[in-house]
Parts: sequence; structure tokens; C-alpha cells
Amino acid sequence: MTSYKKFKFLNIYTEGHISTIKINHPKALNALNTKIFHEFNRALTMVENDNNNRVLIITGVDKSFVAGADISEMVNLNQEQAKAFGEFGSEVFRRIELLHIPVIASINGFALGGGCELALCCDIRIASQNAKFGLPEVGLGITPGFSATQRLPRLVGTGKAKELIYTGSIIDAQEALDIGLVNKLTTREELEEETLIMAQKIAEQAPIAVQCAKKAINSGMDTDIESGIEIETNHFAHCFTTKDQKNGMQAFLKREKTTFEGK
Ligand code: CAA
Repeated sequence: MTSYKKFKFLNIYTEGHISTIKINHPKALNALNTKIFHEFNRALTMVENDNNNRVLIITGVDKSFVAGADISEMVNLNQEQAKAFGEFGSEVFRRIELLHIPVIASINGFALGGGCELALCCDIRIASQNAKFGLPEVGLGITPGFSATQRLPRLVGTGKAKELIYTGSIIDAQEALDIGLVNKLTTREELEEETLIMAQKIAEQAPIAVQCAKKAINSGMDTDIESGIEIETNHFAHCFTTKDQKNGMQAFLKREKTTFEGK
């Protein structure tokens, strides 16, 4: 492990090119409060400032990924305060979505409400078989507040998203896999290892190319296909300014293996 930092609710560690943020609020099943969002902002700045980082993993301690936004913090909010809370959470999640490197949600248990929304803003979701997913907010008298009404339909389709959000149903990990909410399932014991294998596979690729691909996919999903194709072409062309492209292609032609420098 090259570095380790412990906040009150988050542990952040980096090994090689991979950083991990582990949410550590087990008393409330890792429910998200304002302090945790502030800590997320600090942790994301640390990740952004370390040029060595190529992948970020987000996970939780014990039996929960995140059991939602903290209901005890929300119970007495008025309209204005609720707007500020929703905006803050959504801003942090958007920051994760737009982080320059890929983010993998390693879902070790409950991913409910704000926890499901946290998983949704990550690029890739790997879940253990014990994980549970759902948006139970309407059962608390509210809508989802950290962008699930926007991201869930984009990921699983409008019909399934509406069903899950209107009924507040909790689904198991296999169903989440079946509907495309998660990319991959593992046992609880193998979750960390399987997540690291995928992170390592990403970290071995040319990092600028991976980051350009992330930008192209994110921007392209929010626009028409003609504009999206133009966005991709510009990123594709940009890769030809990098040393990694020259080295990667030359190594292929010489039947050699290359290690990418991120330059
Ligand atoms: N907020 C605050 N505290 C929470 C919490 C949450 N979202 N989820 C769990 N906790 C707390 C419980 O109150 C309990 O605390 P105490 O020990 O002090 O009583 C502790 O975590 C353990 O929880 P349970 O005893 O309930 O554990 P369980 O294993 O019996 O049940 C559970 C687990 C099914 C996840 C259940 O805790 C639960 O339903 N949690 C709430 C899930 C939820 O509704 N999430 C959506 C929140 S709203 C939201 O997220 C809004 C938004 O989009 C912005």
C-alpha cells in the first residue's frame, strides 16, 4: 500500500495505480450524511491530484455498501433545506461520474436509495451475491434525491426504472444483474479480489485513451448521435498526440508487450 488516509467516515488508500474509498459508517449501515459528502469532496480532490491514479474503487465496510441518505438528518428538513441537501449530494455524485478516471462501485451489501444512486454514478458496478438494490424513497414520502430518476432509466430503461422507483421494491443481486443494473456478480469473499482484477485490467491500458473513452461515452450519452460521433473523433485524434499511442502501436507491430506511461 503506497498511501493510506483515514477521515471520520471514509478510509482512502492507494496501491499502484488504484485508489479505494471505503465508506466507514457501520452504525448506520453507511448511510450518507452531510459530513460524509464533505469528506467525499476532500477524497475526490486527493484522487484528482495524484497523477498516478488510473482507477477509483468505491466500497463500504461490513454488510452494507450504503443504506441510503441518512434518514435521521432528513426527517425535519424544510423545502429549502431539502433542496440544498439534494443539490449537495447530486453535485458530489456528478463529480464522481465526471471524475477523469473510471470509478468502480464494489457493492458489498445494501445499495438502497442514495446507496443505489451512488452505485449509479460510478462507471461500472460489481456486486456480491448478498447485495440488495432498490429505491425505497416513495415509502418514506419522498422521491429519490440524488439523481436516480435520471440515471436509472438511462441504465436499465424507463419501464424498469419506473417500476423500481414507483414500487420501492428491493431486488436481489441476481435480478440487478439480469436487468443490467450491475455488470458482474461475485461471492462476498471474492468481491474485493474480483474488483481489483477488473481495476488492474483497466489500469494496464493506456490511461489517456481510457480517460478519453470515458469522456466520449459520458458526453455522447447526453447528446445526439452526430454530435457524439464528432466528440469521439476528436478524442480519437487526440490520442495520436500521445507517446502511449506511438509505443502501443509500435509494440504491436513488433509483437512486443508495452507498459503505458500515461503520456
Ligand atoms: N438512514 C439512517 N439510519 C439508517 C439508515 C438510513 N438510510 N439505514 C439504516 N440505518 C440505521 C438504522 O436506523 C439502525 O440504527 P440503530 O441501530 O441505531 O437502530 C442501523 O442502521 C441498522 O439498521 P437496521 O436495524 O434497520 O438493520 P436491518 O438489517 O434490520 O435492515 C435495512 C437493513 C433493510 C437496510 C434497513 O436498515 C433499512 O430499510 N434502511 C433504510 C433504507 C432506505 O430507506 N434508504 C433510503 C433512504 S432515503 C434516500 O436515500 C433519499 C435520497 O435519495 C436522497
